[in-house]
Amino acid sequence: MKYLIANWKMSIYNAQIDQFFKDFKRSQFPLNITYGVSVPSVYLQKTALTLKKNGWLAGGQNVAFAESGAYTGENSAKMLKEVGADFCLVGHSERRTYFNEDNQTINKKINRLLNNDIKPLLCIGETLQEYENKQTKKVLLKQLKECLCDIKDVSNIIIAYEPVWAIGTGKTASVKDIKTNIQYIKQVLQKKFGKTVPVLYGGSVKPGMSADIFKIDCVDGALVGGASLNCADFLGIAKDM
Ligand code: 13P
Repeated sequence: MKYLIANWKMSIYNAQIDQFFKDFKRSQFPLNITYGVSVPSVYLQKTALTLKKNGWLAGGQNVAFAESGAYTGENSAKMLKEVGADFCLVGHSERRTYFNEDNQTINKKINRLLNNDIKPLLCIGETLQEYENKQTKKVLLKQLKECLCDIKDVSNIIIAYEPVWAIGTGKTASVKDIKTNIQYIKQVLQKKFGKTVPVLYGGSVKPGMSADIFKIDCVDGALVGGASLNCADFLGIAKDM
């Protein structure tokens, strides 16, 4: 089963969400793909209803590292669950960069999500400097080891390999790099947990060019930012799968 997951980031408002679903009604999305949308939490409740009615998964974009209590401005995993989250992004590079999230915080968040029956979609990936210094595998290994340090069972986790330098830049990683790095992630998981999980690619995925990525046999789908805001573009990517 392939996954196609939208990340709407902080780039969408009520009017665009309504437009997305209006276009969605007239669209024929291919079957045999698991679809999901990561929605800003203020819109999650209303959006989750429509998504679930159509068999799509509803997701959060962030979760508090703590279970509950005096954490002004945060949303707990239980709150996300109550408004319909099936999954939640964690460790996205924008959270790491702008909100100083480290692997230890991300690990706490993964635990909160699993305890509340929400699938964590863990994002990992190297910066441009790390890529140029040929440190990608080292970075991926450290992120996997630290983010999943005390996790016993990875069955409910999904991973997205998102090179930081490919996010929102229009630069996609090469087929060779995507293949090498996703294979590597799966090897690490197999070694540590005795099993692997779905691994998606993210970073400037657009309709048309995405077919080449989906031909790579170890790629289990895509996590899409910009091109997921418009239903026609998102459908174009689905058709490439
Ligand atoms: P873009 O598809 O806009 O590059 O964003 C990718 C991403 O960050 C998905 O989480």
